[in-house]
Amino acid sequence: MSQQFDVIVIGAGPGGYIAAIRSAQLGLKTACIDAWSTSEGTPAPGGTCTNVGCIPSKALLQSSEHYDHAQHHFADHGIELKGIGLDLAKMISRKDQVVKQNNEGILYLFKKNKVTFFHGTGAFAGAAEQGYAINVRPVKGGEPTQLSAKHIIIATGSKARELPGAPFDEKMILSNDGALNINKVPKKLALIGSGVIGLEMGSVWRRLGAEVTILEGLPTFLGAVDEQIAREAHKAFTKQGLNIELGVKVGDIKKTAKEVSVAYTDAKGQAQQLVADKLIVSIGRVPQTGGLGLEAIGLALDERGTIPVDELCRTALPNIWAVGDVVRGPMLAHKAEEEGVAVAERIAGQHGHVNFNTIPWVIYTSPEIAWVGQTEQQLKASGHAYRAGTFPFLANGRARALGDTTGMVKILADEKTDEILGVHIIGPMASELISEAVVAMEFKASSEDIARICHAHPSLSEATKEAALAVDKRALNF
Ligand code: FAD
Ligand code: NAI
Repeated sequence: MSQQFDVIVIGAGPGGYIAAIRSAQLGLKTACIDAWSTSEGTPAPGGTCTNVGCIPSKALLQSSEHYDHAQHHFADHGIELKGIGLDLAKMISRKDQVVKQNNEGILYLFKKNKVTFFHGTGAFAGAAEQGYAINVRPVKGGEPTQLSAKHIIIATGSKARELPGAPFDEKMILSNDGALNINKVPKKLALIGSGVIGLEMGSVWRRLGAEVTILEGLPTFLGAVDEQIAREAHKAFTKQGLNIELGVKVGDIKKTAKEVSVAYTDAKGQAQQLVADKLIVSIGRVPQTGGLGLEAIGLALDERGTIPVDELCRTALPNIWAVGDVVRGPMLAHKAEEEGVAVAERIAGQHGHVNFNTIPWVIYTSPEIAWVGQTEQQLKASGHAYRAGTFPFLANGRARALGDTTGMVKILADEKTDEILGVHIIGPMASELISEAVVAMEFKASSEDIARICHAHPSLSEATKEAALAVDKRALNF
């Protein structure tokens, strides 16, 4: 006998667990299946984001930034510290504790919202009388449980992409998982890929004392970021001591129990060798669909391994939906969540949708980088006439008081209508400042709208107001 639900969600990452909660809130009988376990074998819902992604990386970024400040910046404030030490085991265990709180929080939310949680691997068994049958293989072992539901939401996420010939062993060649659990600060750390993970994890280990070299295949740094902001970021990271080599071609990777060596050709075509204590490979992520039993229902993947969906997250099969990293679009937790909510609302007969033009991006380095909307190079390429306004944090009173004046806010607005087309920030708390820009763009605000709004003084947000004024060439403080 199978247990019947209205909705079964496979995967409890940010896409899946949020879809399950929203479905239950809307009165649908909902089950959520997730296979992730703690080291003790207990359920660890939250997916990549909670267990080996957003949350643990931000915990280590925060801890390592405190360490860096204590070592290098407190003295500027007249604070004298002697004998600053690093207890790496404690730092990692604090990070694990933060992860655990999040796992437990999700289990609590499932209970509160009456979502039935299954700790196991979910796989399609085929069609059922009313929808689809799903087999759940329990993590703890034992007989599979059969569930069925009219609607299935696939939210199985993604996993780190391996370099051919250099599989992850999480000891010497690390994915994002191993990169968050190194138990001794490496003297030399190599990374391949200077994308978001490369820069965030490279920053953590540099701050903790490693000599960090990042090998990047593309000749441009942070190609998806506004060029002016990317230039500023490159300057700041290089000054901090991150060695970033662009335009390299990675060759053979060899490892012993003590070191990893990476053969590569540099941008000038010279053969080079990088020897390090550990190697982090951060060259993007691939959708995770293995073991889902898609063949049982005849659902095909596209050439990149993602589940094809339309703009409403509908797959090719009726009432099977897919959200988050396993489908097209940016691999971001908040994008996955928005899709999860929209799908649950659609199932309940509402009209949920996701505005892909206003999904913010944040890179949690120091300085932070955040943006929403189009970059200057995209506007140029499409021939869209625009006006740009920038304002440096150097001219912002709060940034000076904080002692953190790197970077700027940049606003791009339509030349004729003044509608904001993109906002790009590099600097302190860019991750928080970007929200104002997202709200403005969601409401189709003009740069004049932001310029006319009263912003608290002294605050970093005044830089956003000033950048808006600068679009009209009338910044007041610069
Ligand atoms: P996932 O979070 O990958 O969750 C999928 C879940 O499905 C997993 O728990 C998996 O075990 C489970 N699963 C898979 N197959 C099955 C099955 N057959 N049966 C049962 N369960 C299954 N994004 C941000 O927005 N901000 C950040 O700061 C950020 N930082 C990141 C840092 C790192 C190091 C990494 C790696 C990623 C980061 N991301 C960040 C990206 C973010 O983690 C992902 O975009 C997000 O987790 C995707 O959510 P999801 O629900 O689609 O999938
Ligand atoms: P990424 O796509 O951000 O960066 C990968 C980098 O590796 C690119 O610059 C690419 O050119 C380079 N690369 C690819 N193949 C290469 C090769 N063979 N040799 C050398 N360089 C190569 O991917 P990353 O950093 O692995 O992160 C995966 C995803 O996880 C991100 O795209 C993002 O969606 C998500 N993420 C988000 C975070 C955030 O929002 N703050 C933080 C971390 C990850």
